[in-house]
Amino acid sequence: MPPWPTRIPNVIHMLRVRDESIGGDNPYRWEQKTTHEIVGRGKNIIFSLPGAFTPTCSTYQLPDFEKLFPEFQAQGVENIFCVSVNDAFVMNCWAKDQGLNNVQVIPDGSNLFTSSMGMDVKKDNLGFGIRSWRYAIVIDNLEITASFIEPGYRDNADDDPYSVSSPQNILAYLKGENYEGGGRGRQLNLKLEDGVDSKATIG
Ligand code: BEZ
Repeated sequence: MPPWPTRIPNVIHMLRVRDESIGGDNPYRWEQKTTHEIVGRGKNIIFSLPGAFTPTCSTYQLPDFEKLFPEFQAQGVENIFCVSVNDAFVMNCWAKDQGLNNVQVIPDGSNLFTSSMGMDVKKDNLGFGIRSWRYAIVIDNLEITASFIEPGYRDNADDDPYSVSSPQNILAYLKGENYEGGGRGRQLNLKLEDGVDSKATIG
């Protein structure tokens, strides 16, 4: 596992973008963009989850970030991005299904960003292959200023905790209210205490 980065990784994302000049019923083309091009400067949030269309992600995490976007803006957040180890077709379809206007989806189908964050896990127990552990980060000018990593990071987990990476918890942090911590140090302690994750190293 790489050390927790202080700056977000910069990898290639394969996007599907609408281009009316193509014409026809399906006017989309491929566009490659780097993470830094997509995220840009300023105060932003990235949250990452195990899969598009999965129940907790679709019922709580993504719609709540979408709904609470104005409250994040009031705290100086400019953009909120949702990353998943899914391809651009799936991520675009999920964004459409969710009626997103505020949260922007970032496909990470080849696990380039997620593995650079050290947050990739095997989910073969569910037939998912490699996916992202659930976490969120606050970013300022591409630097990670706060991390909210769900406890119990491990391969083939039989649960998918969802608390510290919720928009409600991150808003509490941004407002200077009581919030639940979920930084990398705490996460490593949990893993070492659990003794379940042989990948765990202190970077
Ligand atoms: C969920 O978000 O509910 C979920 C995530 C991964 C696997 C199964 C369910």
